[in-house]
Amino acid sequence: NWNMSSFADDKINEIREFVGDKKAICALSGGVDSSVAAVLVHKAIKDNLTCIFVDHGLLRLNEAEEVYNTFREKFNMNLIMVNARERFLGKLKGISDPEKKRKIIGEEFIRVFEEEAKKIKDAEFLVQGTIYPDVVESGTKTSATIKSHHNVGGLPEDLKFKLIEPLRELFKDEVREVGRKLGIPEELVSRQPFPGPGLAIRVLGEITEDKLNILRQADFIFREEIKRADLDKEIWQYFAVLPDIKSVGVMGDERTYAYTIALRAVESVDGMTSDWFRIPYDVLAKASSRIVNEVKGVNRVVYDITSKPPATIEWE
Ligand code: XMP
Repeated sequence: NWNMSSFADDKINEIREFVGDKKAICALSGGVDSSVAAVLVHKAIKDNLTCIFVDHGLLRLNEAEEVYNTFREKFNMNLIMVNARERFLGKLKGISDPEKKRKIIGEEFIRVFEEEAKKIKDAEFLVQGTIYPDVVESGTKTSATIKSHHNVGGLPEDLKFKLIEPLRELFKDEVREVGRKLGIPEELVSRQPFPGPGLAIRVLGEITEDKLNILRQADFIFREEIKRADLDKEIWQYFAVLPDIKSVGVMGDERTYAYTIALRAVESVDGMTSDWFRIPYDVLAKASSRIVNEVKGVNRVVYDITSKPPATIEWE
């Protein structure tokens, strides 16, 4: 697409002119928008951009490593990886209310980012992956908050930075196209949505390292099987959930009492409404048997067959 190539070239020039030889920082989440914005700005100002990745310990298996490999090794960007796992887990200890969890994570994220940002002397600009639908959405206030969304790019306005928002005019598809033109790996460019609070809203009830580990492994297996079945491009979003349920099972001659894993896969256009995806039974069967056999602590797998509304896509 010629349009998106010339868009990228024009933006890079524009950013270079706007920033001059000043410094910029960016909160990199590993999501499509912040990744494309960061690479675009990096092409323009090179080492004057520093990216900050906050690992809140609520990421999927290998996710932090993938971010490091892509941005540090492939693109050679200044990247600070902040290991804030214990800090977040500590704050979340004993908390099981979904909205409280979201609030704690959102606030803590900002605090950690601010602390890191302060260490970068004389940074004047902040890169944000705001895209056109975000611009429109923030202009319309809905009457009831169903869930308080936390977007890793959403930082407080009182941070004293000039904003660089190179993707403000683009729709998601166009952002992906720009990403491809910039050489960002396809796995990243076509990545499914992942919520800012991460696995915290997929481990129902209180979050513990043990539950996160179980969920990470089950989720990894499910994603692997979806990919093997060639469904990863077809399904809008697919993931595993760990409800706070233990039930009785049998393995060999032994009685077990272990967790249930729920699988969720939906088709959607924008996340506002969705229908559950009709995954072929044999794919579900394979995922289920692998999860109970390979993940210690799980003895049952169920598939979520509700649409949105009345359910939501995430369970919290
Ligand atoms: P729900 O669960 O509300 O989710 O049907 C709709 C879409 O939004 C994603 N989601 C979030 N994304 N921060 C985000 O950036 C959040 O706090 C958040 N909560 C939900 C969800 O994954 C789905 O794609």
